[in-house]
Amino acid sequence: MNVLGIETSCDETGLALYDLDSGGLRQRLYSQIERHREYGGVVPELASRDHVAKAAPMLRELLDEAGGVAAIDGIVYTRGPGLMGALMVGASLARGLAWALQRPLLGVHHMEGHLLAPMLSERPPEFPFVALLVSGGHTMLVDVAAIGRYRLLGESLDDAVGEAFDKTAKLLGLPYPGGPELAALAATVDHSPLTFPRPMVDRPGLDFSFSGLKTFALNTMQQLSPLDDRSRAEIAHAFETAVVETLGIKCRRALRQAGRGRLVVAGGVGANRRLREALGEMADAEGAELFFPEPEYCTDNGAMIAYAGARRLAAGQRDEGVFDVRPRWSLEELTPLK
Ligand code: KG4
Ligand code: ZN
Repeated sequence: MNVLGIETSCDETGLALYDLDSGGLRQRLYSQIERHREYGGVVPELASRDHVAKAAPMLRELLDEAGGVAAIDGIVYTRGPGLMGALMVGASLARGLAWALQRPLLGVHHMEGHLLAPMLSERPPEFPFVALLVSGGHTMLVDVAAIGRYRLLGESLDDAVGEAFDKTAKLLGLPYPGGPELAALAATVDHSPLTFPRPMVDRPGLDFSFSGLKTFALNTMQQLSPLDDRSRAEIAHAFETAVVETLGIKCRRALRQAGRGRLVVAGGVGANRRLREALGEMADAEGAELFFPEPEYCTDNGAMIAYAGARRLAAGQRDEGVFDVRPRWSLEELTPLK
């Protein structure tokens, strides 16, 4: 079964054709980052318009390569969570195609896509596992017993990790999205005399709070003003250390609490080198296995949506006639596969 996946929840237009039987995958990905950079963040209206401009031509290209619309056996799209207008573009395209081609249609949860992205790698994890989802919009720890059996263990009460990276990077004068830039700046020193707080690690529980780190960075900058290059790098380094250690502590706690021996890390911040190293050490010490999706499937993409949707279509799930998107949507509302 060849499933077309359409992802338009934020600032990436992602399309993929995934063959559930052979694992074969073709995909197209377009990132709007350049368009949003001058505004220092994603502008929802511009995002929707860019999806409108890009999705149909990208689909044509993908289908030309795959041998036309006959190659499509089912269509899935990101139904939420995400930006309302952006979601509507993908949902409308999917719905129109499904109606015209008379193919089954299903709306997919974006975070389920991220959770299942490691299934597309050469060494996919077995169930059950704990997943750490760290992106620009989300920070969550989820216990994954099987597809559709998700228990939210903890989440950010304020800024997502990627957002905290981006905001702190902006304070340091780095361009959007600042996460990788901040990491690169931090890597110019090998230690920092500064110590940032590890938010909420003393309290039991698995929730996160990252907005205080940005304020701490601002206060530190004011104290050290005027800043030279070395102090900027030391601030970046101390910030990154605090984030990485906090995530490590919470991941260890989550593995123990859920009684799982596998940790899957997904989302853009999963690209962070020091986070990967720290989680690697933690997992070794715990005797746990650690999994990362391929870098191209860490960030938003159509392949993860096609995969999650294909598994659900194969289990007989379909959209029930009503056309809607879910800008806010909890993972725990999803139904398990039969
Ligand atoms: O998953 P993603 O591509 O997009 C969504 O937010 O859905 O994640 C993007 C986030 C941004 O906040 C970006 O700054 C952050 O991931 N990021 C990083 C790194 N690479 C990307 N943060 C820290 N270190 C990195 N190497
Ligand atoms: Zn995402």
